[in-house]
Amino acid sequence: MANVAVVGAQWGDEGKGKIVDWLSERADVVVRFQGGHNAGHTLVIDGKVYKLSLLPSGIVRPGKLSVIGNGVVVDPWHLAKEIDSLKSQGIVINRDNLRIAENASLILPLHRELDILREEAAGAAKIGTTGRGIGPAYEDKVGRRAIRTGDLLDLQNLRGKIDRLLLHHNALLRGFGKPELDGQKVYDELMQVRDTVVTYLDPVWHLLDEMKKGRKRILFEGAQGILLDIDHGTYPYVTSSNTIAGQAANGSGMGPSAVSYVLGIAKAYTTRVGSGPFPSEQANDIGEWIGQRGKEFGTVTGRKRRCGWFDAVLVRQAIKTSGIQGIALTKLDVLDGLEEIKVCVAYMLDGKRIDIFPSSEEAQARVEPIYQSFEGWKDSSAGARSWTQLPAQAVKYVRYLEELIECPVALLSTSPERNDTILMKDPFED
Ligand code: IMP
Repeated sequence: MANVAVVGAQWGDEGKGKIVDWLSERADVVVRFQGGHNAGHTLVIDGKVYKLSLLPSGIVRPGKLSVIGNGVVVDPWHLAKEIDSLKSQGIVINRDNLRIAENASLILPLHRELDILREEAAGAAKIGTTGRGIGPAYEDKVGRRAIRTGDLLDLQNLRGKIDRLLLHHNALLRGFGKPELDGQKVYDELMQVRDTVVTYLDPVWHLLDEMKKGRKRILFEGAQGILLDIDHGTYPYVTSSNTIAGQAANGSGMGPSAVSYVLGIAKAYTTRVGSGPFPSEQANDIGEWIGQRGKEFGTVTGRKRRCGWFDAVLVRQAIKTSGIQGIALTKLDVLDGLEEIKVCVAYMLDGKRIDIFPSSEEAQARVEPIYQSFEGWKDSSAGARSWTQLPAQAVKYVRYLEELIECPVALLSTSPERNDTILMKDPFED
């Protein structure tokens, strides 16, 4: 039986929500393995709208187990808010359907404040983070001073761990000319949300192992996109976690063999939120047109997304670094009506043609895209549920992309409506 990992193959916002929702209906367990509440997606089920940032998508479906793995950074205040909001919409959330790894790191208010403080201080060089404290929380994790979810079970030692954390943070705050934090205050604040976290704690690696033995279908739900990966993305304009599919294993406590099929999600064009290189960006009328038609505004921050042509070099690279076996191509219908569509097929760098994206920040900023121009299509592809319902030119476009990215399109999404999907390969049937 196949366990599926779903990852974004661009800079996030590829339309994972719809695909993950479709897959989670068929999974027994849905696992988040990286990131935190910087992610955001909207699920529409039976006409009801649910907004999720931290909780796995399975949470809105009865009978599914949702797991927050050790690779996630958990803001307990946000967790409490998201749980309350879903409960007020009639969703039942308890230990039967939600578990949180006891070795996940916490995001505290001090992380959020530091994230914002740093971005403000960076001026034009800012990353354009979501301001959720994601980066600072991961820094404390690898700095071996994080407060972890499981620390909330051991109150005798918690105070000491807070002091260890504040030794570092108060030095930073002094550097910024800000008042220092008081350990007892941080402790008291944590006590307000302790129960919310503790209720769901579990050694989830063990639970997942049991699920695997029981031949349950596991869906690993990635957040952000591969081009935002801390190692393989457009560093330093990235998020602070590994977003590649390999993290599904690390961030949940399962070995690499737990994932048998990797599905990458890519839009038929490209978007990016925040700063950083974007070779095929169209900061012009075309980009504006795509943004309007594609409703390209951030779900978490409401920021307008930068828009541009499909970059086959970047998506191919994402496919390789994540071992993606099939692509779910989304938002093809947004391109309906364009006279001409361009695809970035290679770059020029310092007078030479290259077909991989360089790793240095400076070279990334210098590459010039080489485009292949493609005739657009007049008819609508929106709502198509089979290849024959697609304009011939749109089919050609998809086939052309498959060739360039060296990966088959397993699924084609032609509108936000869940049934407007053309399925070539069922990711769970391996
Ligand atoms: P952070 O994850 O808040 O540290 O933000 C780092 C970078 O990742 C910024 O460019 C954000 O815009 C981007 N980012 C983080 N989460 C998402 C997401 O879910 N979708 C798209 N971009 C994201």
